[in-house]
Amino acid sequence: MKNKDYVIYVLRLGHRTERDKRITTHVGLVSRAFGADGIFIAGERDENVKKSLEKVVMTWGGPFRVEIGVSAKKFIREWKLRGGEIIHLTMYGIPLPDVIEEIRKSKKDKLVVVGAEKVPPWVFDAADWNVSITNQPHSEVAALAIFLHELFEGREFEFEFEDAKIKVIPSIRGKKIVKVEKMRN
Ligand SMILES: C[S@@+](CC[C@H](N)C(=O)[O-])C[C@H]1O[C@@H](n2cnc3c(N)ncnc32)[C@H](O)[C@@H]1O
Repeated sequence: MKNKDYVIYVLRLGHRTERDKRITTHVGLVSRAFGADGIFIAGERDENVKKSLEKVVMTWGGPFRVEIGVSAKKFIREWKLRGGEIIHLTMYGIPLPDVIEEIRKSKKDKLVVVGAEKVPPWVFDAADWNVSITNQPHSEVAALAIFLHELFEGREFEFEFEDAKIKVIPSIRGKKIVKVEKMRN
């Protein structure tokens, strides 16, 4: 259980099947593990990324939504019309420590936007917050992990995933995985 008052989705911009398959999958994995409710992938429609993420959800639990072939403009327009807010992660934005309190306080549904190649200016304009995780260039995977970690103040360590088939038993050494038994009424 994530115990939050709003929905939080990630929008991955500009996916290119050949170049970005690993990194977009990693954006999806981090989104799920760190507490987002789903990922929407704009750019080229890549069934393999969707399949890999859904396989993880089947095994390790959810809920976690994966949508591909999304039109970023349409999605962002509709998100705003429905009253959701937009947090765009960019090295050019306001440093995270200066805005995270305000973002945490808002109970509106949140869309966290990360880029791949050059992000067009309209995204900066559409965002409620353009947030930097340092003003140095690095990676969407790192930026997203740190943003969600700060948003949830570390509670991702306690999240439980529904309908998981297996889970890890933390061990000092080695790998311990157990099957999760279904609760019966
Ligand atoms: C590899 S970067 C490419 C950015 C691209 N060169 C541009 O100018 O927009 C891909 C994505 O990582 C994220 N990113 C990279 N460095 C970041 C930083 N310091 N703070 C926040 N997000 C960052 C942004 O979402 C960015 O769109």
